[in-house]
Amino acid sequence: MATERTFSIIKPDATRRNLTGAVTKMLEDAGLRVVASRRIHMTREQAEGFYAVHKERPFFNDLVSFMISGPVVVQVLEGENAVAKNREVMGATNPANAEEGTIRKTHAESIEANSVHGSDSAENAAIEIAYFFKPEEIVG
Ligand code: PPS
Repeated sequence: MATERTFSIIKPDATRRNLTGAVTKMLEDAGLRVVASRRIHMTREQAEGFYAVHKERPFFNDLVSFMISGPVVVQVLEGENAVAKNREVMGATNPANAEEGTIRKTHAESIEANSVHGSDSAENAAIEIAYFFKPEEIVG
């Protein structure tokens, strides 16, 4: 498997509790390398655009409101099999179902305040990376 890139967000529940470093360490310990990173406070329009694929889901408004409730850290992660590796270290969406040792089991508060987002495919990773980063902002 060649080197791959994926997109990650450290969500407002984690930045609020000063867990940016702790979460990033778990990503790095899993073999992922941060090749771009920026702390931002998303606008409602930006969050709605990012989550447009979920706009028909019942939790869409709650999800958008949560994601703009505080700062987030958007990151590009690089490594072997990065998309799957990131999903593995994140753990299940609902922390109640997440494996021991995963970010969500360790840090998440609820299915909404679940500390991290990670792309679910290489195709979506490319779209999500381009939503937040210019090519020259990614330094591998
Ligand atoms: S996934 O990863 O797309 O398969 O997960 P999914 O279960 O489809 O959820 C998509 C995103 O919606 C968030 N989510 C919720 N937010 C608020 N309330 C409820 N009930 C809820 N259920 C799911 C979930 O954390 C996913 O966010 P991201 O940022 O993509 O991880």
